[in-house]
Amino acid sequence: MSYERSVSASPHELVSESVWHVQLPELRFGRGSVRELGFQLADLGVPADAHGLLVTDGTLADLGHAGRVTDHLEDDGFSVDVYDDCPREPAVSDVDDCIEFVREAGDGGYDFYVGLGGGSCMDVAKATRAVVANGGEVLDYIAEPTGEGERLTESGAPLVLLPTTAGTGSEISPVAIFAVEEKNIKEGISSNHVRADAAVLDPTFTTTLPPEETAKTAMDALGHAIEGYTTHDYDSLLRPEDPADRPVYAGRSPFTEMFSEEAIRLLSGNVRTAVHNGDDLDARENMLRGALFGAIAGLTAGATLCHAMAYPVGNRYHTNHGETIAVLTPASTIDYNSASDPGRFADVAELFGVDTTGMTDRAAADALKEQYVQLQQDLNVLPSGLHELAGVTEDDLDWLAEQTVSTQKRLLRTNPRPVTVDDVREVFADALHNWE
Ligand SMILES: [Fe+2]
Repeated sequence: MSYERSVSASPHELVSESVWHVQLPELRFGRGSVRELGFQLADLGVPADAHGLLVTDGTLADLGHAGRVTDHLEDDGFSVDVYDDCPREPAVSDVDDCIEFVREAGDGGYDFYVGLGGGSCMDVAKATRAVVANGGEVLDYIAEPTGEGERLTESGAPLVLLPTTAGTGSEISPVAIFAVEEKNIKEGISSNHVRADAAVLDPTFTTTLPPEETAKTAMDALGHAIEGYTTHDYDSLLRPEDPADRPVYAGRSPFTEMFSEEAIRLLSGNVRTAVHNGDDLDARENMLRGALFGAIAGLTAGATLCHAMAYPVGNRYHTNHGETIAVLTPASTIDYNSASDPGRFADVAELFGVDTTGMTDRAAADALKEQYVQLQQDLNVLPSGLHELAGVTEDDLDWLAEQTVSTQKRLLRTNPRPVTVDDVREVFADALHNWE
């Protein structure tokens, strides 16, 4: 019995989940951890004279970050080519360009890969390494009907990721997401063969991120942390007969909760400083740690309604993912979902720094929404709602609600509160204007 079929099985066949599982790349964190990149590669079995590829973008090359990485690698005896053509919000064709670059460099690809950048660069590095190892092109491995839905069977040469933003969590996730230009949608390759072997998180790479980007990526990270904390308990879901059928988003566990709690504290407590004083390395380090912990929690337990609603918005209006999460969170994650368990949202309020003394759980959840919106305003670079973000009006809401419910079943299945198209429409309406 597969997991999907077990959901619709008759009640006497249903068995509650009793196991949680976490899979992560090897992690190295801290100031100067880039100096251990060579050691990390050797630890993954890469020989000292190996020839590798650094996948990054032009801005990071201009800022000298790419040079820092190649210098360290060359000091350790490796030789490195640099591919610095990753665009923001990459499309399938951009990954195919990188794959072509690798294939032209020689049969079988490189001995190792390093991805340096935000989610875009890291996703290109992840997909390139996987497709080179498995053959064919990106669309072969994207789910049907958009792609061919072929299964990846090989991981390929070792891949290490160095994030330069504190947000997406791509450094630990088994997913790489790209725009499919012909269909005007975003689709992902999702497989443990896409996940990096190791991540090196050095906060000194994050201080050059401009305030706007810092704010956007932080709101995505905060979304992962809060959504992961407020999704279903793993043992309230159903147990798959075959462990291989356990979904990637498997509900919150004691493991993920611990990371969510620390992530909410770190991100909400440091984002103002990181945005307004980007050189503050303590704040940057706390943000990078918060984003990592948020990703460990949210990308294991699972994101909820807010991320589900963000995909149709991103597909139609090509909005930035973090900004989309920022404008949708008050109405979806907090307002709508808190009715499922106000006590849990009162806990989030406390982690967020709200003094909840003497408040009912409901009042604490409301105070969380108020403080979250206040935080966005304080950052000074985020839009006031969906209308300012993308010009969305009442007329667009039916389509957005319909798309969310019809295309985001995977995320909505584990939302803590059931949703109908009408519910989602109302949440979108609430998100048009978070403040005047
Ligand atoms: Fe996200």
